[in-house]
Amino acid sequence: MKLDSTISAVITGGASGLGAATARLLASHGVKVALFDLDAERGEALAAELGGVYCAVNVTSSPEVDAAFAKARAANGQERILVNCAGVGGGAAKTASRDKTTGAIKEYPLENFERIIQVNLIGTFRCITKSAAGMMTLDPLPDGDRGAIVNTASVAAEDGQIGQIAYTASKAAVVGITLVAARDLSSENIRVNTILPGIFNTPMLARAPEAVKAALGAQVPFPKRLGEGEEYAALAHAMITNGYFNGEDVRLDGAIRMAPR
Ligand SMILES: NC(=O)c1ccc[n+]([C@@H]2O[C@H](COP(=O)([O-])OP(=O)(O)OC[C@H]3O[C@@H](n4cnc5c(N)ncnc54)[C@H](O)[C@@H]3O)[C@@H](O)[C@H]2O)c1
Repeated sequence: MKLDSTISAVITGGASGLGAATARLLASHGVKVALFDLDAERGEALAAELGGVYCAVNVTSSPEVDAAFAKARAANGQERILVNCAGVGGGAAKTASRDKTTGAIKEYPLENFERIIQVNLIGTFRCITKSAAGMMTLDPLPDGDRGAIVNTASVAAEDGQIGQIAYTASKAAVVGITLVAARDLSSENIRVNTILPGIFNTPMLARAPEAVKAALGAQVPFPKRLGEGEEYAALAHAMITNGYFNGEDVRLDGAIRMAPR
């Protein structure tokens, strides 16, 4: 897919971090961007800077996602690109655990598990199915592509750490649906790929103290630092523009393999 001002894109989680970096890169190629996000302040500001549109949305709500696609399409036309970056961490707890002092035994709080699956997995799938249905109303481009979808998992999909049971479940499922979605949509010329980021320097990580970030960076074999949003965006760009890229789950992690904790 050749990027220019005839192409429009929806970026979920586009107000911050990896999504914002991708929106900037796509807009720099002339693509009309729509930022789907909960964060109105950052979303409005970035959309104004990029000449795009901000759509207030919680990806866990079908009516809100429908309204966001309607707003994006009214402003920019039907999107040929969907980049799913909306996601949440947190909910850290063991599958079951024993309190070291009292000996009390606790089960993992299921409501945390459900919340993280709702956002990271079902929110991603909701946007995939609604966007693919919209892309199917367009004619293919001269190079054959009708649309391209990029999802965001995590290296936790493959090496989840102690306490990451819910996050890992959500991201491993995103990895799992990539090939099926690519196969489902292959007859419609829509490609689907997923990025598994390692540890990236985004607002999601900004709450961590500098010493923790430095320690995390030092664990990366090479380069010994956190990844930058521009590096994620460059891989998303390759997945969108390289017509043979399809059905792939790709780690982007400086060769890190996460230890149990
Ligand atoms: N930063 C990392 O190290 C890292 C590593 C692996 C995977 N990831 C994944 O990358 C994606 C982007 O993360 P980031 O680091 O850019 O984080 P971020 O917090 O900077 O950005 C995430 C954005 O998603 C939005 N969002 C969250 N829940 C939403 C919802 N229900 N509906 C709509 N928008 C919602 C937030 O408002 C925020 O703007 C996430 O899926 C995250 O799990 C990040």
